[in-house]
Amino acid sequence: MAKKIVAGNWKMNKNLQEGVALAKELTEVVKNPNCGVIICTPFIHLASVAEVVKGSAIELGAENCADKASGAYTGEVSAEMVKSTGAEYVILGHSERREYYNETPEILKEKVELALANGLKVIFCIGESLEEREANKQNEVVKAELAGSVFHLTAEQWKNIVIAYEPIWAIGTGKTATAEQAEEIHAYIRSCVAEVYGAEVAAETSILYGGSCKASNAPELFAKPDIDGGLIGGASLKAADFKGIIDAWG
Ligand code: G3P
Repeated sequence: MAKKIVAGNWKMNKNLQEGVALAKELTEVVKNPNCGVIICTPFIHLASVAEVVKGSAIELGAENCADKASGAYTGEVSAEMVKSTGAEYVILGHSERREYYNETPEILKEKVELALANGLKVIFCIGESLEEREANKQNEVVKAELAGSVFHLTAEQWKNIVIAYEPIWAIGTGKTATAEQAEEIHAYIRSCVAEVYGAEVAAETSILYGGSCKASNAPELFAKPDIDGGLIGGASLKAADFKGIIDAWG
């Protein structure tokens, strides 16, 4: 059975003081959740938030890491640096980074390898554009994204991979995929994982949904057999909204 997870992706929001305050509020309202809870924050928050969430039900992740181990790469933050802050996870492959920062499957493959080599678990994002969905190409898109960056991993490495399916047309738009649409492609993604790693590993792989997931639609989404939780953007920025999604697990 795959681990149930609700992960927040703060994106480029909250200054340090606001971020620490949100983390403190979350530790107070998120008690004994029926799922794993992760907050992924900008780099500037990691060390401070790690102290805040220590001993709580909340784990910490970054939103990116470099595709180089170390060296003369001004402005970059390495996987080793992320791990040293106390973070346990890193989001990679988010559509915003693929689009805005030209992160290719090859670059993402390097990032995934470095993240795993430095003891981080990876939340690997995949998902199609509106045009690809309208052309009914979503399955080939997500399979190519997996094959391009993570399907080379060993079974042992794969244990530290969480998949996040995020239809680009649902991110930040308020237009959520229907539970049926999401379940259909989550089941397909799981079948792709089974082809490479076998049915048992596929069943244990957490596949999260992302794209306008809210407390109002999370129960219907999470009730589907192949949806193991959510990767949450906007609704992770307020404790009550984020808790409302976590509570969808009962
Ligand atoms: O990574 C999660 C994010 O892309 C979803 O954003 O605001 O639609 O929940 P949002």
